[in-house]
Amino acid sequence: MLEIWFLFRVVTLKVCGIIGSPRKNGNVDLLVSEILKGAASGGAETCKLYLSDMNIKPCQSCGIDPNPKHCLFEDDMEQIYDALENSDSIVLGSPVYFDTVNAQVKLMIDRSNCLMPYVKKADGTYGFERRVKRPKKGVFVAVSGKDQKLDTILATVKGLFLWTNIELVEIFAYAHDDNELGSVKNDKLKMKQAFEIGVRISELEPFKS
Ligand SMILES: Cc1cc2nc3c(=O)[nH]c(=O)nc-3n(C[C@H](O)[C@H](O)[C@H](O)COP(=O)(O)O)c2cc1C
Repeated sequence: MLEIWFLFRVVTLKVCGIIGSPRKNGNVDLLVSEILKGAASGGAETCKLYLSDMNIKPCQSCGIDPNPKHCLFEDDMEQIYDALENSDSIVLGSPVYFDTVNAQVKLMIDRSNCLMPYVKKADGTYGFERRVKRPKKGVFVAVSGKDQKLDTILATVKGLFLWTNIELVEIFAYAHDDNELGSVKNDKLKMKQAFEIGVRISELEPFKS
């Protein structure tokens, strides 16, 4: 009987959105939310974390290996660590501030450093040790003004994804030349493309431990 239950058990794919912009209903929020809607329409379980609502202390470069904890600090970063350990896909959205991620996203990135610490191995050599074992897919949403290059922000985000075991599968860029809150909602094509990304990630194979 137990075997039959395992055979027919549907493994639900978990997708977590992380929103870096402080502006609720702004472009980053709307786009990440639309991707999550697409993922939910495909049967995924979704969650959404607003970095601006969270209390995340800046990394102090303490140099102490926190193992088995993720970090010596215990604050709202725990919600991010939990998402990184338990999701199949991460949808990270950031506004471009001075060419790169904004401060809220950077706090989270720096606090991910101990997820791949540089440690002495059993054979006496030193190397990076990956602590987040669960491989995930990642979507990165970048929102900027017109003509903004994305090379700097992408270099930063690729570093985070490497450290947290996320394979970057989609980059979604939205550039605008207005000051209107959430102007992307008027761009039906962009909103449709965002929804479709969500549908695509809901079709990926969930992680099996
Ligand atoms: C402090 C700050 C710095 C910014 N720096 C840039 C920048 O370097 N390049 C750019 O294209 N837009 C820049 N912007 C504009 C934002 O990227 C843009 O308003 C974006 O839509 C913000 O995302 P949101 O609508 O989700 O809040 C900046 C905005 C702020 C507030």
